[in-house]
Amino acid sequence: MSERSLVLLKPDALQRGLAGRIISRLEDRGLKIVGMKLMQMDMPTAQRHYAEHVEKPFFAGLSSFMMSRPIVAMAVEGKSAVEVVRKTMGATNPQNAEPGTIRGDLAVDIGRNLIHGSDSPESAERELAIFFADGDLLDYDREIEPWVTES
Ligand code: RTP
Ligand code: MG
Repeated sequence: MSERSLVLLKPDALQRGLAGRIISRLEDRGLKIVGMKLMQMDMPTAQRHYAEHVEKPFFAGLSSFMMSRPIVAMAVEGKSAVEVVRKTMGATNPQNAEPGTIRGDLAVDIGRNLIHGSDSPESAERELAIFFADGDLLDYDREIEPWVTES
């Protein structure tokens, strides 16, 4: 049974020309892209997406950074996609992220950690609805999936 996660390539990913490499790492892991758009975040979207952080001291810096330049919003699908994305991203603070992860290889600062991934299937469902309308996400099969689908 496959699952979907929201991924955001944050402004630093595009500014540093790392979008393709980051997307490749997700594809390499077997994740299937089922939605993707280039966009610029606005304040209502930042407040909705980061609802759990609105009252935190870092929200002002986080939201202004996220709105500052274009981002890529993606929906990826796969077996345990939420956890697989989080493991592939590495720890929130890149200083603690393991080498071999996106953040552990490509980032050094918690405020410039390149990528967002949903933290639970419930969050993924909530967050995907913020960035994608019904019909934006495509359901399609691949000849051979990197995970076993038959039981
Ligand atoms: P994300 O939501 O971006 O995938 O990362 P996360 O779940 O690992 O981290 P979360 O706790 O949800 O925080 C969201 C983003 O806020 C920034 N942050 N800054 N300065 C700070 O103390 C601080 N704490 C969090 C990071 O950019 C983090 O990804
Ligand atoms: Mg989070």
